[in-house]
Amino acid sequence: MSSNGRMTPTLAPASMREVMSQFATGVIVLTVGGEHIHGMTANAFSSVSLEPPLLLCCVSHGAVMHRAVSSERRFAVSIMGADQEPLARYFADKERPLGPAQFEPVDWRPGPRTGAPLLQGSLAWLECELSDSYDSGDHSIFIGRVLNSTRGAGQDGLLFFDGRYRRTAAG
Ligand SMILES: Cc1cc2nc3c(=O)[nH]c(=O)nc-3n(C[C@H](O)[C@H](O)[C@H](O)COP(=O)(O)O)c2cc1C
Repeated sequence: MSSNGRMTPTLAPASMREVMSQFATGVIVLTVGGEHIHGMTANAFSSVSLEPPLLLCCVSHGAVMHRAVSSERRFAVSIMGADQEPLARYFADKERPLGPAQFEPVDWRPGPRTGAPLLQGSLAWLECELSDSYDSGDHSIFIGRVLNSTRGAGQDGLLFFDGRYRRTAAG
């Protein structure tokens, strides 16, 4: 409701998506290990707090990942480097296999703290335990407490802007 008492018009999903596409983000793959092994490309990701170290990722209620994180309560984040666009596309593709078969074509190692897949060649990795979750609209905000973090050797990042993958310019 606005201050003059009228209903605030709702922004259509397509308009929301189009406007938000002008906000450049990095790209991550969120992963869960164990019984609910799964991976999903995401860009609704942010750090939240330094002490304690907390981050967030927003996950659609309709995503397989939603149940995986809610059930396993531990997850990992692989931050995509400039050369990992094919991996980002793969983990956003609804046609990919589910379960352990999903990771057969992928180079990964289990995270030491969570068992969640850490994707080789990423810029950095974070392992988290689920600290809080908030339902908000059609997504949940999952807050992860960081248990472990590692930097990789790569330098250039994968970006998502205006509906397209791009890469950071070196230098
Ligand atoms: C660049 C990019 C960013 C995305 N970011 C998110 C996100 O932050 N949260 C989300 O729920 N889905 C996001 N998606 C959509 C999911 O990756 C996609 O729907 C995926 O197939 C869902 O996987 P699942 O249902 O198997 O878990 C994004 C897709 C792309 C291409």
